[in-house]
Amino acid sequence: MCGIVGYVGNKDINSVLMAGLWKLEYRGYDSSGVASIVNGDLEVRKVKGRLMNLQEILADKPLSGNLGIGHTRWATHGEPSEQNAHPQVDCKNEIAIVHNGIIENYYSLKEELIKKKHVFRSDTDTEVIAHLVEENYNGDLKESVLKTVSRLKGSFAIAVISVSEPDKIVAYRFGSPLIVGLGKDENLLASDISALMDHTRRVVIMSDGEMVVLKREEVKFYDKDGKNIEKEEKKIKWSPATIQKGKFPHYMLKEIHEQKDIIQKNVNLRIKGSEFDFGENFHFSPQELAHLSHIVIQACGTSWHAGYIGKYLFEDFARVRTEVDISSEFRYRNPVFDGEPLVMAISQSGETADTLAGIREAKAKFLKVLSLVNVRESTISRESDSTIYLNAGSEIGVASTKAYTSQIFQLYLFALYLSRLKWALGSSEIEEKIKEVKGIPEKIERILKEAVKIKKIAKKYKDGKDFMFIGRGINYPSALEGALKLKEISYIHATGYPAGEMKHGPIALISKDSPVVAIAPQSSVYEKMLNNIEELKSRGAKVIIIGSEGDKRIKEIGDDIIYIPLCEENLSPILVAIPLQLFAYYIAALNGRDVDRPRNLAKSVTVE
Ligand code: F6R
Repeated sequence: MCGIVGYVGNKDINSVLMAGLWKLEYRGYDSSGVASIVNGDLEVRKVKGRLMNLQEILADKPLSGNLGIGHTRWATHGEPSEQNAHPQVDCKNEIAIVHNGIIENYYSLKEELIKKKHVFRSDTDTEVIAHLVEENYNGDLKESVLKTVSRLKGSFAIAVISVSEPDKIVAYRFGSPLIVGLGKDENLLASDISALMDHTRRVVIMSDGEMVVLKREEVKFYDKDGKNIEKEEKKIKWSPATIQKGKFPHYMLKEIHEQKDIIQKNVNLRIKGSEFDFGENFHFSPQELAHLSHIVIQACGTSWHAGYIGKYLFEDFARVRTEVDISSEFRYRNPVFDGEPLVMAISQSGETADTLAGIREAKAKFLKVLSLVNVRESTISRESDSTIYLNAGSEIGVASTKAYTSQIFQLYLFALYLSRLKWALGSSEIEEKIKEVKGIPEKIERILKEAVKIKKIAKKYKDGKDFMFIGRGINYPSALEGALKLKEISYIHATGYPAGEMKHGPIALISKDSPVVAIAPQSSVYEKMLNNIEELKSRGAKVIIIGSEGDKRIKEIGDDIIYIPLCEENLSPILVAIPLQLFAYYIAALNGRDVDRPRNLAKSVTVE
């Protein structure tokens, strides 16, 4: 979603702002813009569409000056257009602002400002901020921004520049991420650490209700009342992952193929003999965990599907009752907590607004929060009591693939750990399962070698209009995930169902034109799955079955078969995910879709 960059220093402002925006591109956007101050005038360049369009405009009409702000916009209020792109400016074209988030009370503020004769030129909620800063300006930009943010409701990170004070960028964070990069003779600002790392490894992570004033030789932080505060500087030791597509046509395909190595890396990091090591950010004691009464998992989208698989794992292995909630529901439903629950948040980006709000809801009730997060130093990991990192590397494709399988992997091990603490499984059973886990990377590799076969099947079904994905037990969430993968990148309608539920309504949709993807590896519900598939076949459905190697029965009833290696039932969602991802990928790619940047979607969903 929207990304902010800011720079004050002596480098070429065009290159620095553009380089930062390219780094934020993966978050998802539909327009972009930059602004700088030159000889007392504001210069703004904005475009609809891809960043390449902005780069072309800047090549033609470069900005000058040593200070500027830039933005990638993911439309919330007002269509994607040049007019609605940020920076947004005030009436006199003297103040420019970029914003990530949503201003919930923008409508009433706009009415108020129109009455005061402010002229609005966009449909955005953001523009009210520019006019409010103008309205409140009394010779001190910092004061006027502070006064302005005290009137705003919603979530926001903003960066403001003004021709009246051309030596500084004033920025404020409330609900959306903002990181300051400290350099030599230069200072920077961005929504994401990755956009700073070409310039510096010294960063300050801002918290909600904090302001920064950035000058070339000085950075000062303030609280919401304008009082000077000291902030801890962090040295980023890790390197940004190489984010080239290499030989792959899309990041998504590359990321699918990385899964073998990622799981192998996690096997090496997390399994130490018969012990588990959840990393340096995991602080819960065995005693604390042994006493927990139940688990509440909250997450969004694909991460929610992983959480749903977690429910099966925690209940089966550790006999710990587990609820799973979509974060946007969890945060508003006033959940009941009794006993000593552990709240788990699962998020690739670590910035998802609803998941973060769920954590805050839990913390307000004094509950312990464990998060499973991919992006280090992200807000969700910082606000949780403990974090298990996914170690999946940067995920650039909007559709989550490698983060998802790593989420399931971490959940599997954590469930085994809990089962040991709760005396639910015996040591030999746990040992057996650890052995199974260690075999997963090689099994993933075997599936990846069959990618061409999956492509052939995808080609056969690429013109399908409605797909149904079915599964049972721990692979019911896999069915939900298969459907989500297909619809989000191919724009083809797909729905996921527990197979046993088909006859309670959805079977009415079945005809020869509605392909069904049935997930039926060897498992405790295998026979039931076959019965469900037979019911669909007898109503004319074309069925693609994902099943276990060596299974002859599925060959007799399925129209097309994708085999995965045999594995422990509770690990099967990891293996099943690979063909589901490849199937969705090939259908989308064969239909000419923008696989890595599907329409309307953002990688980091920082607004609710
Ligand atoms: C789908 C997808 C999304 C995300 C969801 C949560 O492929 O990527 O459904 O899973 O937006 O995002 P995170 O995991 O970053 O909290």
